[in-house]
Amino acid sequence: MSIVITGNPGVGKHTITEKIAGRLKLPVLDINATAKDSGLFEENGGTNDIDVKKLEKIIEQKISEKNIIVGHLAPYVLHKNQVEVMVVLRRNPYDLISVYRDRKYSERKIKENTGSEILGIIAHDATNQFHEKVFQINVSEKSISKTVDETLELILGNKSNEEIDWLELVSNNNDLEKFFSD
Ligand SMILES: Nc1ncnc2c1ncn2[C@@H]1O[C@H](COP(=O)(O)OP(=O)(O)OP(=O)(O)O)[C@@H](O)[C@H]1O
Ligand SMILES: [Mg+2]
Repeated sequence: MSIVITGNPGVGKHTITEKIAGRLKLPVLDINATAKDSGLFEENGGTNDIDVKKLEKIIEQKISEKNIIVGHLAPYVLHKNQVEVMVVLRRNPYDLISVYRDRKYSERKIKENTGSEILGIIAHDATNQFHEKVFQINVSEKSISKTVDETLELILGNKSNEEIDWLELVSNNNDLEKFFSD
């Protein structure tokens, strides 16, 4: 069974995965890279559509005994029996805006991705399918090394889940309109 690192774009999945893989000496299986290599990315008006059913089959063949699997699609292409623990990295949506601006995302793409983080869609979908195997961690205002240490603690079963509610933060700031209007 594999260790899975997931979460929205820009939360730090690849940064953390690389370091965890080094510490645990496990091979990385990158879901996006696999989809790209298999020709499954379909350009659709600036966003990518992926055939998740096909990707699920390809991932199944590529998984070795124990990998670190990374990708925002992890909850949608894996089965419970392939997963030992699934860590969902969560990041303050206000911080994500600057990550996305640096990446030159369009305003529409920024709203889509911050909206998804505020609603906790990946965490929700992951928990629905992987239940007790899912742990969230808030990476905001944590150094990369502290995030790595805490993620390792989660993987080893020495740390409990963090409850994260950006919706309350955004709503208290009266910013729902800012994130969710057209
Ligand atoms: N505590 C932290 N943990 C991880 N990354 C962090 C942290 N703080 C800042 N970062 C930075 O966040 C940025 C985004 O990280 P990264 O590219 O790993 O995200 P990602 O989740 O892999 O994105 P994508 O889904 O687009 O591949 C990087 O510049 C990274 O250095
Ligand atoms: Mg990445």
